[in-house]
Amino acid sequence: MRKPLIAGNWKMHGSRAQAQQLVESIHRGLAKPTAEQIEVLILPPYVYLLEALKFIQHSPLTLGAQDLYLGTQGAYTGCISGQMLVDVGCRYVLIGHSERRTIFKESLSLVAEKFIAAVDAKLIPILCIGETKRERDENKTEAIIAEQVNSVIEVAGIERFQQAVIAYEPVWAIGTGVTASPQNAQDVHAYIRNIIMKNNVDLASTIRILYGGSMKPENAAALLSMPDIDGGLIGGASLNAEHFLAICAAVSNEAAAIKLKKIG
Ligand code: PGA
Repeated sequence: MRKPLIAGNWKMHGSRAQAQQLVESIHRGLAKPTAEQIEVLILPPYVYLLEALKFIQHSPLTLGAQDLYLGTQGAYTGCISGQMLVDVGCRYVLIGHSERRTIFKESLSLVAEKFIAAVDAKLIPILCIGETKRERDENKTEAIIAEQVNSVIEVAGIERFQQAVIAYEPVWAIGTGVTASPQNAQDVHAYIRNIIMKNNVDLASTIRILYGGSMKPENAAALLSMPDIDGGLIGGASLNAEHFLAICAAVSNEAAAIKLKKIG
């Protein structure tokens, strides 16, 4: 079974007080049945990880970070290692978010190295991939997706994907209010699963593939009803506890309706 995962990517938002309030509200508002059916993850800015940890230690919420750097320790001013993230209670880390790829010029090879660093630190990497509007208009979506996934498989090896999660986030849908249609997203998710299948048939049926890009309470259930969409990576809507919880509830209703997605 693929347990749906709902992840809140806070990006560079909020203050210490707001972080506290947000985690507390999510923690309090998360209904028990929802928490049993799905996994709920929050990804605060580094400096609020410990703050968040205080509130989630005895809750079903899981903690993760938005990025890491290579290695365990070293002279890398401004960077945080996977080992440090584990040390403060993280279980997940985003790798290759489109904002890292574009604003910070992260190359395919750096993304692959970071993926390895995450797995080696015993973190679960969420590998983010997605095409730009221009690439989509030029019918290059599949080529871009294949390149972003295969470049990591080639360097890291498919074995390192055993626990990994993939997040399909069309760049044109991130923070724009425009969402891929459920069928559109499903087609790309099926394509991604097929790439994994070519490398490891069993893994293709267990790996979780999330959709990200303007997911909101209004569109979450429709997206999540698609057979290859196993959860969401939520940006803007994760900063509002009510909206984030509504998405979690939509997913858990969906999960209940389809009795969770079965293997094979
Ligand atoms: P969004 O961001 O939900 O605000 O579109 C998603 C993401 O960047 O992970």
